[in-house]
Amino acid sequence: MVFGEGPADTKIMIIGEAPGKEEDLQGRPFVGRSGRLLTKSLESIGLARTDIYITNIVKTRPPNNRTPLPAEIETGRKLLLKQIEIIQPTIICTLGACALVGLDASSISKPIRITKIRGKIFEYQNRKLLPTLHPAYILRNPSAIKLFLSDLLAIKELSEKK
Ligand code: URA
Repeated sequence: MVFGEGPADTKIMIIGEAPGKEEDLQGRPFVGRSGRLLTKSLESIGLARTDIYITNIVKTRPPNNRTPLPAEIETGRKLLLKQIEIIQPTIICTLGACALVGLDASSISKPIRITKIRGKIFEYQNRKLLPTLHPAYILRNPSAIKLFLSDLLAIKELSEKK
């Protein structure tokens, strides 16, 4: 099980989809290719990943990295809502569509079109929710890195506001 990692008193929570092979082996979220891209991107705008709580909607690796099934998302949601209750982040950043479905925040865009809603700030349980692209998408579409970085910058700016 890859539960999540980060400080308990952070303002920012980043939520991805599910652990991949590397995450499964290390028991840590976002340590594979996508994770390295996420870590570097955060660093490049002056955010340290160690200052952020990072987790996934689904806590166990789906076989062959398939998209999580609705039942797996349901199970993950219960854990995720508990994590949010404990950490109390003021800013939540979801990576990709699955995390938004996982939060049951899909009502902000139906069907979910991440490319349309990314970078916008929504309200979720009295917190700021900013959806962005999944780093795996950036690996496949390298020119989208600019959008990704600008969304992470928006997160940083939100976290600096009183
Ligand atoms: N690694 C994770 O931990 N989550 C993802 O969504 C992708 C890679």
